[in-house]
Amino acid sequence: MSDHPSDHPSDHPSARPSAAPLKRLHIKTYGCQMNVYDSERMADVLRPLGYALSDEAEGADLVVLNTCHIREKAAEKVYSELGRLKAMREAKLARGEGRSTIVVAGCVAQAEGEQIMIRQPAVDLVVGPQAYHQLPELIARTTRARGERLSADFAADEKFDALPAERGVSGPSAFLTVQEGCDKFCTFCVVPYTRGAEWSRPVADIVAEAEGLAAKGVRELTLLGQNVNAYNGAGPDGAPTSLASLCRRLAQVEGVARLRYTTSHPADMGEDLIAAHGELDVLMPYLHLPVQSGSDRILRAMNRKHTARSYMDLVGRIRTARPDLALSSDFIVGFPGETDKDFEDTLALVREVGFASAFSFKYSRRPGTPAAAMPGQVEDAVAEDRLARLNALLDEQRLAFNRATVGKRFDVLFEKPGRHPGQAVGKSPWLQAVFVENAEPLIGRIAPVVIEDAGNNSLRGALTPHQAAA
Ligand code: SAH
Ligand code: SF4
Ligand code: F3S
Repeated sequence: MSDHPSDHPSDHPSARPSAAPLKRLHIKTYGCQMNVYDSERMADVLRPLGYALSDEAEGADLVVLNTCHIREKAAEKVYSELGRLKAMREAKLARGEGRSTIVVAGCVAQAEGEQIMIRQPAVDLVVGPQAYHQLPELIARTTRARGERLSADFAADEKFDALPAERGVSGPSAFLTVQEGCDKFCTFCVVPYTRGAEWSRPVADIVAEAEGLAAKGVRELTLLGQNVNAYNGAGPDGAPTSLASLCRRLAQVEGVARLRYTTSHPADMGEDLIAAHGELDVLMPYLHLPVQSGSDRILRAMNRKHTARSYMDLVGRIRTARPDLALSSDFIVGFPGETDKDFEDTLALVREVGFASAFSFKYSRRPGTPAAAMPGQVEDAVAEDRLARLNALLDEQRLAFNRATVGKRFDVLFEKPGRHPGQAVGKSPWLQAVFVENAEPLIGRIAPVVIEDAGNNSLRGALTPHQAAA
């Protein structure tokens, strides 16, 4: 986020109300895209109070850490960051520049509550993922009496009703949260506890937000939810609406050229959603579908509600509907009880499916989750070794996938300037970063590109002669 030029205050024309003096807000985001969305919405809530975004924590009047609790490392990072912020605040005070306010938001705030303020007394405010719409009033209160905590009630509908309709957008691609929470209770995972039960926003609210974004030049929407394909929000007639129907509705919003959604659970991949991949051109041919493991024994212990075979069958059906669809996934190695044989099953699944991209993690023991108490916790060195082997295979597949685009021509959505003058970076339909020279005037637009070279993490392409002349 921080390298994005539009995060700079000067790019937010609406950031400075005429009367109030400008205050600097720094938001540091950890974790998943839902946190990225929430951080953008926090900025929206605070903008009318005169807060403009700053890339730097240094010198900011208000610093928000939007935290992630998914793995121990992610959660612990928060405390080291808080230590740095405390020192920064003291230095700022000593310079006579006023006292900054430090807020902890997100999933660590939800999970650890006021323990955070005990462990790091410099924290002024702790606010959970369903309560951040109340930030203005909470911040006003902390200036009078320090130390507030607000979280825990999971009233997502209240939050969405209270958020401003206006969104500050930075670029042609935007996240849009449509669903929150999770009822799946995978035995390793904290999300059902930090984000609460599955809940879907009504269709009309989502359409209104999409229209507002499109009017500001957004061409690509990524619909977000912890289990986005469990979406069942109320339609215009009040009846539950599937994610497939929501996509069909959003495809009609003028200006929206690309739709994506994440993250999906294999058990909620309905037939109408599979069919939509074959029927809706706006639905991009790329799907993040976490599998976690290729061993049925481990999948059962994880409470994943699918087997290796049912996952591979599902992938087959989706690819029948949309043959050029590419897949990405999440994996956990070293889950309690995982043997060498179980791990080999994971490698076998990866070889059979073939992934364009993937995230793999060493199992992290999370307090309060069922897996934390399971026997057979795997030694770190073993998990480390498995992670390295899995990553080597996944890297190989990603490079092969990227290389297969060389010589092909497809549409790229140009998002931002590249490293050198005139260069622009965009996204392929398969979410690959594409660097193109002399394409800066095309930022915000979709144009065909011919791919000339491919690496591990990006592609290099050229505009077709017609586009380059235009
Ligand atoms: N709702 C999504 C994402 C959940 S969190 C889903 O169902 O896939 C993102 C990923 O973090 C998970 O897919 C899983 O691979 C990983 N993860 C979750 N808990 C973990 C833990 N305790 N240890 C290691 N990785 C974990
Ligand atoms: Fe966590 Fe499983 Fe829910 Fe995903 S589906 S958020 S991994 S409990
Ligand atoms: Fe992390 Fe919370 Fe997302 S725990 S992965 S920020 S839902």
